Amino acid sequence: MAKQEDIFKGVISHAKEYGYIFPSSEIYDGLSAVYDYAQNGVELKKNIREFWWKSMVQMHDNIVGLDSSILMHPTTWKASGHVDAFNDPLIDNKDSKRRYRADVLIEDYAEKLHQKAEKEIEKARIRFGEFFNEEEFVTTNPRVMEYKSKQKQIIERMAHSLETENLADVKALIEELEIACPESGSKNWTDVRQFNLMFGTKLGASAEGAMDLYLRPETAQGIFVNFLNVQKSGRMKIPFGIAQTGKAFRNEIVARQFIFRMREFEQMEMQFFVRPGEEMEHYNYWKEARLNWHLTLGLGKENYRFHDHEKLAHYANAATDIEFNFPFGFKELEGIHSRTDFDLKAHEKFSGKKLQYFDTEQNQSYTPYVVETSVGLDRLFLAVFSKSLKEETLEDGSTRTVLALPTVLAPIKVAVLPLIKRDGLPEIAHKIIADLKLDFNVVYDEKDAVGRRYRRQDALGTPFCVTVDHQTIEDNTVTIRHRDSMKQDRVAISDLYKIVNEEVSMTNWLKKLIK
Ligand code: GAP
Repeated sequence: MAKQEDIFKGVISHAKEYGYIFPSSEIYDGLSAVYDYAQNGVELKKNIREFWWKSMVQMHDNIVGLDSSILMHPTTWKASGHVDAFNDPLIDNKDSKRRYRADVLIEDYAEKLHQKAEKEIEKARIRFGEFFNEEEFVTTNPRVMEYKSKQKQIIERMAHSLETENLADVKALIEELEIACPESGSKNWTDVRQFNLMFGTKLGASAEGAMDLYLRPETAQGIFVNFLNVQKSGRMKIPFGIAQTGKAFRNEIVARQFIFRMREFEQMEMQFFVRPGEEMEHYNYWKEARLNWHLTLGLGKENYRFHDHEKLAHYANAATDIEFNFPFGFKELEGIHSRTDFDLKAHEKFSGKKLQYFDTEQNQSYTPYVVETSVGLDRLFLAVFSKSLKEETLEDGSTRTVLALPTVLAPIKVAVLPLIKRDGLPEIAHKIIADLKLDFNVVYDEKDAVGRRYRRQDALGTPFCVTVDHQTIEDNTVTIRHRDSMKQDRVAISDLYKIVNEEVSMTNWLKKLIK
């Protein structure tokens, strides 16, 4: 089995064992692509959401929040284009009976060509050492040029076929590239068909009078339909943004990869309303701002990349993904889209209500353009969790599992451990907890030898362990152990708040965003 797969399996089992994520309704054998966040998972998720919220809403004078409902008037989805165009192109393998997204099969093939080109570049880098000129190599090496040009051709052809609804050509491309079913190796494919991803539900008491509704497939439309309410009641001036976090639902057909692709998930979206013609300036600003936000988490610059879209969604005139290096390779983490005035114009048309803004500087009304940032909270969770999980070999040759979460996001900030269960040490530990828990999530742990307790907290991701021993009774000092360095310091109990706060406070992490 590939190493990547092992790592990913390790992530999933660690998430379950340490109370982060459980399969939904597991006692009934679970529900595919639906998950529950457990006692530690819910805290990590809440902290990620809060960090995003504060960065977007609290740190920007011109962005306000919203919490719109999941159920919306059904015409919303007609106007937004989701009823007609929110489809995935599907293909079945006749032998394995497995169903795939045709575009994903092709993209994975193209990604392999990209990897091959990268390998050649890496080999040359090692061969030529300091004399290596990457730009020259990439533009002259026949093999790299061939890989890159083939990759480009494939993606362009796919984009064109999908845009023109030429599903026969999508199938032809899969056959020409000799793409095989990843499970069975068979190349015996059905035709490609479109499948709408929205979940339907009903509103009303009687079957006859019930109204057909959809569970929202994105939170963004709640923002669009409230655009004028927020603008007027908040006296907002363009450019301004509306941010919200909340559940979205998609009947994903290929729902694998743990919490990466779920049927019920949470989005954190922000729509930024701008003057028509100025959207590219704002699009470029948000592209950079969002990447920088991710980088403050310290998961490694090399684990992020932009992927500009060839195939644009029905509402966009520019779009990019921030991709993250998940345990199964680089995949979309966040989307940044220049959505033009498509949504507001469509809602105006379908509702018959004006959704225009009067610009006092320009003395005219217009439909604003929108730049959107949209990140999946669960995907971000997976990015943070998987990159933080490490197996370390220590100096003495032993190994430890550590979940080196960004401290601001860690569910539990401090574990307080009495060295032994008597001599008044537990009482002191409880007193320390009573003081610290006003500000932080703190736990008490007295079971097992202290070394084992340290390891348990390392695996849980707790940044600090505070040990109370007999010296504490004498001089009110404790040992504080740092999760990542395993360094231990003797400090006064009265200094604990300051030491912990310096490291974990959201304020200090938000400061990283200010240049
Ligand atoms: N309003 C724009 C929009 O919804 P999207 O690219 O379809 O755009 C935005 O989704 C983000 O939502 C993605 O980048 C991803 O992080 C997250 N997302 C989308 N589908 C998801 C799913 N099935 N499971 C988990 N996260 C998902």
